[in-house]
Amino acid sequence: MVMTVFRDDAMKGERILVTGGGTGLGRSMAEAFMRLGADVIIWGRRGGVLEEAAAEMREASGSTCTAMSVDIRNAGAIDEAMQDIFDRGTLTGLVNNAAGNFVSPTERLSPNAFNAIASIVAHGTFNTTVAAGRRWIEGGHKGSILSIVTTWVWSGGPFTVPSAMSKAGVAAMTKSLAVEWGPKGIRANAIAPGPFPTKGAWDRLMPEPLMRKIGAEGENRDGTAGIPMGRVGDHAELTNLASFMMMPGCEYLTGEVIALDGGQWLNTAGTFSNLSALDDADWDMISAGIKATNAE
Ligand code: HXC
Repeated sequence: MVMTVFRDDAMKGERILVTGGGTGLGRSMAEAFMRLGADVIIWGRRGGVLEEAAAEMREASGSTCTAMSVDIRNAGAIDEAMQDIFDRGTLTGLVNNAAGNFVSPTERLSPNAFNAIASIVAHGTFNTTVAAGRRWIEGGHKGSILSIVTTWVWSGGPFTVPSAMSKAGVAAMTKSLAVEWGPKGIRANAIAPGPFPTKGAWDRLMPEPLMRKIGAEGENRDGTAGIPMGRVGDHAELTNLASFMMMPGCEYLTGEVIALDGGQWLNTAGTFSNLSALDDADWDMISAGIKATNAE
């Protein structure tokens, strides 16, 4: 069990919007911010789920949490809800966490299937970010944007192309706005998590029939193969980093996309990344063979 590494009031005075904050990683981040004293607003599509999450998180933390039913595929709804938030006070941070994804061979995807993902991840993230940014700029306020992307922004994402394309766009937005909005006191960063199991993602990315199939072929059933740290992530490891990135003490950090994946995506690099499977005896034999070649 990973614990928080910050003092209880480390985020007091912060007012942070988390999109997709009623479930999964979004909820974990919202709850972590609240435990550190921040006031939080969560957006999501399902009002009942949001209200229930907000009540539980309020109970657990003593901080305020406002649930707002907002579908970020709807640009008008975003603007209206953002105005409502700013009418009640200034937002200090935005976490672009809401996403959609499913695994599929790309040639099977219809234009509508692409839109189902891009309308949330690319368009929704852009519209939410601009709705907050425009108000920060107009009011002369500082602000911090944190977007949750994936390591596919660097490696590409076979079988998840609409997500990989959209998330790569969000990473480009992060770097662009760090420079464009930096002089206005607005910073933009991203975290690229590796596998941090949540029901929403796992049901769509590791559905049971797929788990059975890759398990039957002797590979990993739990998504940990190829991760140098040998395990999936703990939500607290993500929330510790996200909290730090949203704190005033982290104000010099901007334009960064930080991988948090136990080394998984780097492990795809180079010809020799699978050599961790060798033991000392293998290496003794290999070393002797190489030295014999050198001596020839
Ligand atoms: C092919 C598919 C499909 C599939 C849907 N479609 N599923 N095509 N294979 N498995 C097509 C449909 O046929 C339709 O196209 C179009 O997509 C829209 O389908 P809908 O059922 O109407 O989808 P919609 O209601 O828009 O919902 C899709 C969704 C949903 C938004 C993606 O699954 C959702 O609500 N997801 C939110 C939670 C989530 O996905 N979380 C995971 C995020 S994980 P046609 O042409 O037939 O009309 C993540 C990174 C994880 O982002 C990183 C891990 C390392």
